[in-house]
Amino acid sequence: MKQFISVHDVLTPSSEGLSEAINNLIEKALAYKLNPFADKALGTGKRMGLIFLNPSLRTRLSTQVAASNLGMEAIIFNVDKEGWALEFEEGAIMSGNTVEHIKDAAPILGKYFDLLAIRTFPSLKNKEEDCSELYINQFIKYAGVPVVSLESATRHPLQSLTDIITIQEYLKTQQLHHKKQKPKIVLTWAPHVKPLPHCVANSFAEWMNAWGVGEFVITHPQDYELDEKFTKGATITYNQDEALKNADFIYVKNWSTYTDYGKMYENDPEWMLTNEKLALTNNAKVMHCLPVRRNVELSDEILDGPNSIVTQEAGNRVWAAQAVLSEILNAK
Ligand code: CP
Repeated sequence: MKQFISVHDVLTPSSEGLSEAINNLIEKALAYKLNPFADKALGTGKRMGLIFLNPSLRTRLSTQVAASNLGMEAIIFNVDKEGWALEFEEGAIMSGNTVEHIKDAAPILGKYFDLLAIRTFPSLKNKEEDCSELYINQFIKYAGVPVVSLESATRHPLQSLTDIITIQEYLKTQQLHHKKQKPKIVLTWAPHVKPLPHCVANSFAEWMNAWGVGEFVITHPQDYELDEKFTKGATITYNQDEALKNADFIYVKNWSTYTDYGKMYENDPEWMLTNEKLALTNNAKVMHCLPVRRNVELSDEILDGPNSIVTQEAGNRVWAAQAVLSEILNAK
């Protein structure tokens, strides 16, 4: 693997297709879960820079632990708080607040580190700029070393890999695949107090469609359509109750409007998942990437109840990151 920005980076010459490549990566991650230090020598003498332009708990720490399990040193730089304000626009006249151009900073980071991992968020104001993935693409263009996305303007691939690892664990242990031909996996919009990025929902849809293991349904209020680039292949409905019927997994997430970019039209609390709604499902496991606004996005009764697997899901972030870092180190 040369970089990890989207699901498409998972494809290897030896895998027959994307679904098989994803399955191989899942198996690698689950093997690391059983034996975290199996490849302790792989990263010896290697150094990774984790560059944050936005806050993080899970992504930052799980990637650091994953690097350590592979014997690789990880150095964290909160560039938004501790670094010079970076300029990303080509040809910018830097007479404003930005101090250092990415074309000067990124090659230096490439000298210090064997690989770079970057977290950026979208502005949710400039759709064209966000969709062009300007920030992470400028790092890729100028760093000269492999780049891993720790969430970018439109995608969160490490989260999505974690999510399908977690689903696969349940499919294996609970033998859901014996009960039904295909598990039903539902991505449902949930209320929130402010407009949020589309990254987690986009990526989850992109990975689910590429993986092809389940019947995949997306439900959201009218006007909350995601970019078809990510959702194509999924069944989409405005009727949440209908979507939840017989679901085996429910992925809960808020996102802002995409067409009229970055807005929050409504915050209908009826869309929050409750035990009453859970009763419509096939005793579904409930997932969320976290952090979550309790009793806005997800109810206490769900989060503290037996169907929530959010902690196990977040724990699996380590194994997803370790599998990806291992693939990149092996390719170097
Ligand atoms: N899910 C996730 O990316 O969490 P953090 O923002 O805490 O890294």
